[in-house]
Amino acid sequence: MSPAAHQHFNPTAGEDEGYTRWQTFTVPFSFPVIFTRALFHPENSSLFQALSYREPDKRHRLIAFADSGVLQACPCLADDLAAYCARWGDSLELVCPVQEIDGGESIKADWASIEWMHKILLDANIDRHSYVLAIGGGAVLDAVGLVAATAHRGIRHVRIPTTVLSQNDSGVGVKNGINQFAQKNWLGTFAPPWAVLNDSAFLDCLNDREKRAGMAEAVKVALIRDSEFFEWLCENSDLLCVFEPHALTYLVRRCAELHMQQIGQGGDPFEMGSARPLDFGHWAAHRMESMSQHELRHGEAVAIGIALDTRYSVLAGLLEAKQEQRVYDLLVKLGFTLWHETLDQKNQQGQRAVISGLADFQAHLGGELTITLLESIGVGREVHHMQLPLINESIDYLKSRA
Ligand SMILES: NC(=O)c1ccc[n+]([C@@H]2O[C@H](COP(=O)([O-])OP(=O)(O)OC[C@H]3O[C@@H](n4cnc5c(N)ncnc54)[C@H](O)[C@@H]3O)[C@@H](O)[C@H]2O)c1
Ligand SMILES: [Zn+2]
Repeated sequence: MSPAAHQHFNPTAGEDEGYTRWQTFTVPFSFPVIFTRALFHPENSSLFQALSYREPDKRHRLIAFADSGVLQACPCLADDLAAYCARWGDSLELVCPVQEIDGGESIKADWASIEWMHKILLDANIDRHSYVLAIGGGAVLDAVGLVAATAHRGIRHVRIPTTVLSQNDSGVGVKNGINQFAQKNWLGTFAPPWAVLNDSAFLDCLNDREKRAGMAEAVKVALIRDSEFFEWLCENSDLLCVFEPHALTYLVRRCAELHMQQIGQGGDPFEMGSARPLDFGHWAAHRMESMSQHELRHGEAVAIGIALDTRYSVLAGLLEAKQEQRVYDLLVKLGFTLWHETLDQKNQQGQRAVISGLADFQAHLGGELTITLLESIGVGREVHHMQLPLINESIDYLKSRA
């Protein structure tokens, strides 16, 4: 019986027929996504405001976990945060020094670290009114997010993303997770953060490969949602390919806004349905990442996945061929390689192993297979079936270009 049918349901029916009452409530979610620079500079009030916006008169307890890669690149970070909390000491209390955790995908396969973080929260008496800060790339945010969401059934969680990808995509989302049973993001929850603080200064110390990888998500979201942003990316590709800071900052901000728009206004923030429009190009990307043992960065795999699904969109008669070349031109200009040997690896049946990514994609969400393809630049189109010969033809095409 659907909730809408409950009005016609007779609650006074005899007990033999059962008795149902519908429980209904809604919980509005809202959180700030703050774009700033030099977040821990003592006079930057962003963090103070993010933690005290609901209870301005209270002194807030907080603990921070930071990505080892970030701590290496920014050795003063732990001291800066301590000094910051001292400066805003009437409102903030850092309960212990910044805790270092491994950066990168390995943290998402490390159950011992998850348990270790839980224990730190326990020992520090972190309760539901305290804050857990995660400072790092998407992998660290996913792992710490899971820890915060599960300790005491959910502690206020503040994300401080430090890579292009985590600032323009994962950090503004509502999911966390780790890789379990050798499956990516198998264990995780939907848990919107308390606040997100994007500090552009973190991107200065990121290497070129990581900076580039994050830009793939901007191309992705421009292609499915915003043709004007796609034009901007093309017009500014000379600046973006050398990671000019102002251009990169705008790319991050616009991409984050488009992700926020989809999650907030797309009608399905917790992915209860079968569609994941923000995962254009991702069915193949996730599979390639795993097949390459994560040697391929997420964004690098997404760039290839975008190229593959763009070609498929043309072969399936959805996208005009004249638009296709612009997609490849932009990706190549930004420095992406649109081929990886995993695309050609065969399984025991002699089929390309990457294609099982379609089944994985469906299994992760459940429901009907739903893949976003392109109808034109800026407009995505959902389909529920992909034709094997056309996928193979698309892969052959990428191989011929390589
Ligand atoms: N939850 C979601 O909605 C969501 C969405 C997209 C991606 N993700 C996840 O995000 C992860 C990828 O995140 P990522 O691309 O940010 O990479 P990452 O977290 O793997 O970090 C990449 C590397 O950069 C280092 N690093 C991070 N910030 C740095 C800085 N400022 N300076 C120097 N080094 C720095 C890290 O230590 C790591 O070695 C994947 O696990 C992916 O599944 C999650
Ligand atoms: Zn992605």
